Amino acid sequence: MGHPVLLDHAVEVAEPDGPEIAELIRNMVETLEDAGGVGLAAPQVFTSLRLFIYEVPEIRGGDTGAVPLTAVINPIVTPLDDEIELGWEGCLSIPGLRAAVPRYRNIRLTGFDAAGKPIDQSISGFQARVVQHETDHLNGVLYPMRMSDFRYFGFNEETLRYPLPLPEISLAGEPAL
Ligand code: NI
Repeated sequence: MGHPVLLDHAVEVAEPDGPEIAELIRNMVETLEDAGGVGLAAPQVFTSLRLFIYEVPEIRGGDTGAVPLTAVINPIVTPLDDEIELGWEGCLSIPGLRAAVPRYRNIRLTGFDAAGKPIDQSISGFQARVVQHETDHLNGVLYPMRMSDFRYFGFNEETLRYPLPLPEISLAGEPAL
């Protein structure tokens, strides 16, 4: 965080199944595996293209389940309704910290996969959260810019040691405290 590439509006990928994109995805997969996160967007590896990879492990999937490692190219996210929920997020570009961030619970995701095939999915919960977080990276948005309450922001070590229950939030996105 602080590098200007993370504030740029990334450029559409012209050829989702091209060899340069395949190489970029391979490198991003290695980086994600080394870093141990759930998602990585191309701007985080200094490439201002509209592409991210993500994976939801079984333990994080909650009521919506696990998602295998997936690449999403030229994503478009559309909320399916007004339901917003708070949930914890971290970011490989903001190491050591986590925060509760409001996100739409239910979204439609369209785009292309690494083979150039169209994606059109309705997704919910933690998977929808990850997709919104990663799509934000393509628009120069980092999660602190989405936060509604800075009490739910802290170091991993401390927030995991002293877990704060998250409030339900209203449709307007304001904390219902
Ligand atoms: Ni991130």
